[in-house]
Amino acid sequence: MNQKHTRQLLGSLLFGALVLGACGSDDDTSSSDTGVTDITSTPDTTDPSATTATTQAGSDSADASGTITVYTGRHYGIEPVFEQFTADTGIEVRFTTGNDPELRERLIAEGANTPADVVMTADAANIELAADAGILASVDSDILTGTIPEELRSEDNDWFSLSQRARVIISSTERVENPPTTYAGVGDPEWQGKLCLRPSTHPYTQSLVASLIIADGEARATEIVQSWVDNDPLYINSDTDIYNAVAEGECDIAIANTYYLGRLLTENPDFPVEIVWPEQDGRGAHINVSTAAVTANAPNPEGALALIEWLATDGQQQFADANFEYPADPNVEPNEIVVGFGEFTADLPAVRQLGANQPTAVEVLSATGYE
Ligand SMILES: [Fe+2]
Repeated sequence: MNQKHTRQLLGSLLFGALVLGACGSDDDTSSSDTGVTDITSTPDTTDPSATTATTQAGSDSADASGTITVYTGRHYGIEPVFEQFTADTGIEVRFTTGNDPELRERLIAEGANTPADVVMTADAANIELAADAGILASVDSDILTGTIPEELRSEDNDWFSLSQRARVIISSTERVENPPTTYAGVGDPEWQGKLCLRPSTHPYTQSLVASLIIADGEARATEIVQSWVDNDPLYINSDTDIYNAVAEGECDIAIANTYYLGRLLTENPDFPVEIVWPEQDGRGAHINVSTAAVTANAPNPEGALALIEWLATDGQQQFADANFEYPADPNVEPNEIVVGFGEFTADLPAVRQLGANQPTAVEVLSATGYE
């Protein structure tokens, strides 16, 4: 049922050399200065035949093997990263952005005709669901297995985390003296009417609840989520807006991803919201991940693997820093603003299990009346 596709792929070093040799002389005639094209707003890209035509029109003299198409649910700062990849390898990138479930459905619908070589997500559960749908390829890469910790890639090596995203408790520095230090503590009646949460439809919420189920079981997870709902939260479908709501006094505490604070502190070093690392006496803060995978029907699987290997190595720092995330490779230092968030215990063992627990998480959210 869970159809996996295994391909033996060339090492990226060899492939990179071939591509550079093949299309290095074509650089001047490419229609794109950077070799990177955002095709998100191109209306006909869902039609594979039209996409092929677009590719030919967009880079008519480039070797076809020197272009890859990426569907990415992770948007922030991605274009300069792709530009650097193209500069380093000569492989051109066409990319489409969208949300993780939409891009997965699109890949399933396109089947063997998909133009996508790589899919990238902003959530672990969504990439695991893509794996379960048979639309990802297992890859055999010593670079990836040597760089990405085992906890941050799938058992079948059909997806790889490229960065970690911690979802934590955030709190007003002006109005809160003793913020909760566990996810259960967010449901304390003390926070009645003072809590902001992301809606139940969002993957971040679903994966957070999946992590509660993994840690404590469905019954206890249901109690915890029910206690949040009983605090009459203000639901806001943007983590940036959640941070601003805490800063402006619409709520005192919330649950949000840390990297948004990195962005906000860049604009205002005195932004009046702080991170509280949850579950530091137990499993650690809930960790979600940005991931990448070669698609099962990739027209250019060698180019796809070359991108993912580059993002895990030469491009690892730039990829993580572009969005103030924690690098997947523990040997790569986070951005200095991120280092300033402090040391913490991370719940890494749950990452691989988030997908399997996502359906139950959706049930728990529905049963508790979480909006
Ligand atoms: Fe985000």
